[in-house]
Order: sequence, then C-alpha cells, then structure tokens
Amino acid sequence: MQIIDGKKIAEKIKDQVTKKIFALKEARPNLAIILVGEREDSKLYVNMKEREAKKVGIDTHIYRCEADISEVEIIKTIEFLNNDNLIDAILVQLPLPSGFDTDKIIAKIDPKKDVDCFHPENVKILLSTCNHEEVIPPLIKVVLEILGSIKCNLVKKKVCVIANSDIFGKSMAKVLECRGAEVEITASDQEDLKNKTCKADILITAIGKPKFIKKDFIKKDAVVIDIGITKEGEKVFGDVDFEDVKDTVGFITPVPGGVGPMTIAMLFKNTLELYKRRHEL
Ligand code: GUN
Repeated sequence: MQIIDGKKIAEKIKDQVTKKIFALKEARPNLAIILVGEREDSKLYVNMKEREAKKVGIDTHIYRCEADISEVEIIKTIEFLNNDNLIDAILVQLPLPSGFDTDKIIAKIDPKKDVDCFHPENVKILLSTCNHEEVIPPLIKVVLEILGSIKCNLVKKKVCVIANSDIFGKSMAKVLECRGAEVEITASDQEDLKNKTCKADILITAIGKPKFIKKDFIKKDAVVIDIGITKEGEKVFGDVDFEDVKDTVGFITPVPGGVGPMTIAMLFKNTLELYKRRHEL
C-alpha cells in the first residue's frame, strides 16, 4: 500500500500559485467567502482558507452571517460582491443551514466569479464538453491531480464514485469519462453497492459516513480516494476504514492529510485563474 501525501502535493501547488501571484504586476487576487451559521466544521474550514490564502498572497473578504439571516440578505451580499470590481472569486461555504435554498443562492453568483464552479451555467458547460481548460470544481481538480501524481492512466479504467450529491457525481463522472475511464456513480444506500465498488480500479467516495468502507468493498490493489470528512470531537474521520483496508488497497488518500489540504490549494489555483481572466492576463 502507498499513502498519497495530500499535504505535500498541496504545498507544491500553493508554492506554484504563490510564485505566480508574486509575479503579478497588478493588485493581488481577491476571494470573498460567505459563511452562514455556526457549524464548527464550516467555521474551521473558512478559518483555514483565510489563513492559507494569506500565505499565497490572496486577499480574503469573509462575510460571517448569523444563521437567522434572511435569504434576501444573502442574495444582496452576493449581488454586491458580483458588482464589486475588487472581487475576483466568490464562495458560499456549504452546507448552508437548513431552510436555505442552496441552488437558488448559488445561482445568484456571477458565473465569472464562481470559484467552486457550482453555478448552473458552469455545470452545464462542464457537462457538455471535454475541453476542461476552464475552471472546474476544486475537488474534481484534486482527484485529477492525485491520479496524475501516481501516474494513473484513466483509459479503460473502471471507476466507481460513491456520492450523495447528484451534481458532484455527474461532474466527476464527466471529467473522468473524457479521459477514457468507465465510470459508475452510486450512492451509499444502494443495495448492490459492494458489487459495484468491488469491480472498481479506482474508488472515489464522498459520502460523509466515517469508516463506512471496509476491505470487502475494495478490489485488490485499487486506488482509493477518500473525500469524506467527518469531525467527531477533536478527531477527523474519512469514509474509509483505513486500518481495515490498508492491506487491500494499492494507493490511498488518508484523512486527515489527503484530499482536504489539496482542495484548499486548488481553490487558490481557481481564484488565480478567475483573476487572470478578469484582468485578461
Ligand atoms: N464545503 C465543503 N467543501 C466545500 C467546497 O468545496 N466548496 C464550498 N463552497 N463549500 C464546501
């Protein structure tokens, strides 16, 4: 088994972004983040994004809103940021507290400032082309980077994506299929889940169920990318039971220290990309 060191790869990406930002002749890229409510994990992620952004030279503008803010107020904030010439990239930290219409809120972000690539127009573009030079969701870029780091050729590879979010699953499948993979999307509550996961050369799991994936879900020597992060007290768990699967997998991303730090690095890469487009660089 080989452990994929997400922290190390993230540092490399951030170094590249830092150098590119340092070389800019104009003002630094500006990233706005809207955080609604008091979820401890969301607060932690936003604090991490703020701290790490400083290191690469991205200016952040954090809008911390009470959970009882109205949808209208959030939309007004987004519209203000859409029109603010300083702001290159906008992120609404998810999940929003219950009661908010996430799709409606995301759809208010200017697609040109949509750093997560969650806006329906951007999703439509992603699903309709294999030309993925444009901004794609940081998490999907992370998966490609991980597979690249172990020189995994995707042609004819069987990939199983366990995702409880429809958009993530579909976007992930499209990007991998464009690179020659045969992708099956499934959900954690499917009865024949194990049958599907056991055939996969590459298993990608994003369900948020700690230690749910055991060795009998995994094909011998498969590549396992664990996107699930669940915080229990001070401890963080992935979807995969690392101890149980370690003698079965070929490669695995650990939690913590796998996908998480890389996603932040890719968020900065996307922020710089949006900045360059707005400044026609
Ligand atoms: N919450 C957890 N991951 C993400 C992400 O990639 N983007 C946003 N907006 N919220 C998240």
